[in-house]
Amino acid sequence: MKSTASFRAHKVVEACQEIAGFSDNPAYLVRTYLSPATRRVHDFLRSWMDRLGMRPSIDAVGNLRGLYPGKRQNAGRLLIGSHIDTVPNAGAFDGVLGVIMGLALIEGLEADRLDYDIEIVAFSEEEGVRFGVPFIGSRALIGDIDAPLLQLTDPRGVSVAQAMESFGLNLSELHAALLNPATFAFLEFHIEQGPVLDQLNAPLGIVEAIAGQSRYELTFHGKANHAGTTPMSLRHDALTGAAEWIGAVEQQARITNGLVATVGRLEVTPGATNVIPSEVRLSLDLRHTDDATRHAAADDMEANGRQIASTRGLQLSLQKKLDQPAIPLDRGLRDSLAAAVAATGRDGHRMNSGAGHDAMVLARKLPSAMLFLRSPAGISHHPDETVLVEDVQAALDAGLYFLKHLNPPPTVQKNL
Ligand code: HGY
Ligand code: MN
Ligand code: MN
Repeated sequence: MKSTASFRAHKVVEACQEIAGFSDNPAYLVRTYLSPATRRVHDFLRSWMDRLGMRPSIDAVGNLRGLYPGKRQNAGRLLIGSHIDTVPNAGAFDGVLGVIMGLALIEGLEADRLDYDIEIVAFSEEEGVRFGVPFIGSRALIGDIDAPLLQLTDPRGVSVAQAMESFGLNLSELHAALLNPATFAFLEFHIEQGPVLDQLNAPLGIVEAIAGQSRYELTFHGKANHAGTTPMSLRHDALTGAAEWIGAVEQQARITNGLVATVGRLEVTPGATNVIPSEVRLSLDLRHTDDATRHAAADDMEANGRQIASTRGLQLSLQKKLDQPAIPLDRGLRDSLAAAVAATGRDGHRMNSGAGHDAMVLARKLPSAMLFLRSPAGISHHPDETVLVEDVQAALDAGLYFLKHLNPPPTVQKNL
C-alpha cells in the first residue's frame, strides 16, 4: 500500500501525463498561447481547484488562477505556479509540473491550513512560440503588457490582442491581473531541463540565479537564380551566407565560457531544389548569467553577420525580439528552500538556471524562488523529458516543510 505521500507523488506525475494528452497536434505535444488545447488544460485544472474550494478564474491574458485562503486575515499571500504552454514536440513536465505541484501541496496540507493565502497560477504563455516573445502570462502580473506586445502577430497574421479577444478574454480587465498587493513571494517548481542534477545524482536543485536571454530574428537577403546556369562566382546565395554565420556563432559560443547560442528556426525562400536561395529567416537565442558577456557576444555576432553579408553581396536585417536580464533569486527564500530540502533528508544542489522561467519575470517585483527537480538524462523540450516519482516525492516533502516554516514578511511590495 503506497503511503499518502507516495500516492500524491504518483498523482502529480499522472496528472502531468494526462495533461500531455491535451495537444493541438495529434502527432506530438504542442500547446501554444490560447490554443484550443489550452481550454482542455483549464478544464482539468479548474475541476481540481473547484474540489479544493479555490474558486478558479481566468484573467485578462488567459492565466488560470485559484486562491486557497489561509486561516488568518491579512497574513499575506504566497503565489505558486508555472506555465501550461509548450514548445513543439514537448515533454510532459516543462511548466505544468509547477502548477500541479502547487495543487498537490495544498492537498498535502490536509487539515493543516496555514495562516497565509496560497494563490496557484497556470501561466498562459511562457515559451514565446506563437508570437516570438515569451512570458505574456507572467508579464501581466507585473503590469508589463504594452501596446507593442499586443500588436505582435503570429505566422497567420493574428495579433496578440485578436487572439485574446477570440479566446473570450477582456483586455479592459488587465489591471485585475496584477499581483494582489498582499502577495509576498513567488515559488516555482520546475524540471531542471539540463544534465547537472542527473550527473550529481541529486534529486533537487535550489536556483540561485536565472541566465539572461537574448532572442533575435535575422534575415539574410540574397538573389534567387538558376541553380544550373549560375556560376559559383556570380552567386548571392542567402543560405550559404547564413550557414557561414551559423557556424561562426557556434564557434564563438564554444570558446566563450558560460555562453550558449542556438539557431532553432530557419526558413529558406523560395525553397526549391533548383533555385539559389534568395532569403533565409532565422532565429538566434543567446544565454549567459552575465548580461555584459551576453550583450558583447550579441554585438560581435551581429558585426560578423554584416561582414559575411557584405563579402557575399547579401543584405542582413536583424530584429531584437527579447533582451531578458539575468536575475538572482531571493537569498532568504533560497536559504529557506535549502533548509527545507535538508530537513526532509535530501541533497539540494545550489545552481543557476540556463533556462528562462516565469520566476525571472516575477522576481522583478517580488521575492521569488525556484526548486528544480532532476531531469533524467538531462533531456527537455523533447518527448523523452521525464521526472522520477521519488524526486517528486522529495519536492513535495521539501515544499510542505517550506510552506509550514515560511514566515511571511510584512507585506512589502516593490512598487507594484
Ligand atoms: O526557453 C526557455 O528557456 C524556457 O524553456 N522557456
Ligand atoms: Mn520550456
Ligand atoms: Mn518551462
